[in-house]
Amino acid sequence: MMTRFPIEEFSSLQTPFYFYDLKLLDRTLKEIKRTARDSRFKVHYAIKANANPGILRYIQAAGFGVDCVSGWEIETAIEAGFRGDRIVFAGVGKSDNEIRLGLEKDIECFNVESEPELRVISQIATEMGKTARIAIRVNPNIDAHTHAYITTGLAENKFGINLEMLPGMVALACTLPNIELKGLHFHIGSQITENEPFVMLCETINRLQDEYESRGITFSSINLGGGLGIDYAHPERHPIPDFEGYFTTFHNHLHIRPDQEVHFELGRSVVAQCGSLITRVLYVKEGTTKKFAIVDAGMSDLIRPALYNAHHKIENITNPNGELHHYDVVGPICESSDCFGQDETLPALKRGDLLALRSAGAYGEIMASRYNCRPFPPSYFSE
Ligand code: LLP
Repeated sequence: MMTRFPIEEFSSLQTPFYFYDLKLLDRTLKEIKRTARDSRFKVHYAIKANANPGILRYIQAAGFGVDCVSGWEIETAIEAGFRGDRIVFAGVGKSDNEIRLGLEKDIECFNVESEPELRVISQIATEMGKTARIAIRVNPNIDAHTHAYITTGLAENKFGINLEMLPGMVALACTLPNIELKGLHFHIGSQITENEPFVMLCETINRLQDEYESRGITFSSINLGGGLGIDYAHPERHPIPDFEGYFTTFHNHLHIRPDQEVHFELGRSVVAQCGSLITRVLYVKEGTTKKFAIVDAGMSDLIRPALYNAHHKIENITNPNGELHHYDVVGPICESSDCFGQDETLPALKRGDLLALRSAGAYGEIMASRYNCRPFPPSYFSE
């Protein structure tokens, strides 16, 4: 099950590049299908995590829907073969053109994040003679205990409608023309590694559903967002995240109505572990107090360490069994935050060695930039 790196083939390739283990992706998709076995569960892949066509093809073929946050993501998904009616569309700032595109493609659901947005969707749908299926994104004020930049379900975050304003939004959605209210949408954050925030989410949803039912309003879908975390420290020990535990939590704690659909928008957990960023050591430089391994990948290729202080496991794949030394592994970009790891313990490094930055399949390639005029990194796939 461990990713095997074809070192001989790598040696002729220009670094840095992304390498995707398609066998692992395939096993991950099968595991999701096995564990999300409640027929009411529907998984939408959060395309923001990785929109590489070689990856999308697999996910589409596995029968997943897709969660988009821009018109460009909708176009990318459709090009990859996803059907319009399997697309859900979230985001606080949908432009008129993006709303029009969603309506043209008859998408499954707009996840609406504010009252003015709801009014604009109704107006554009009316002009186009279409009905917009919508869910209201609720901000449940739940702390997901994750990095501040990727927590989304707290009252101070820009996302969704807070609980006090929800009744007004529901009432408005029931009266505006060309709007069909399907359900409620939630997403409390990303890289969530504890069960408790998900249990709290279920309790909030149960309470809300009971309240609305007592007033005669039922929801045909509940969307729980994404968020399942992965093991960045031990990708070889946990190549496939704990989908069983994740889906079981919702199965056990959410009071699902018999003919209700439950949507999940998983991104990171689907693709993170199958991807690695492969880079070459350019120089080993002796500093006054430490040794630097300067590699040819930088924060333009993988920004997560610089942006979130994230750590991707680093492996010397050329020489995995050498004597251990300590290095700061840094990139070539003119910023001190261009650093993949401080005081890393690694088998002795020399110029030309290949390193793998693991668990980089999600929010890696897609967040690459052209900073320092560097080109986007290419990608290769395992057989
Ligand atoms: N649904 C919504 C509405 C979202 O905003 C997100 C992620 C997802 C689903 C997918 O969440 P996942 O299953 O991947 O946790 N760039 C950051 C992560 C940002 C996540 C943004 N929203 C990182 O590299 O950690």
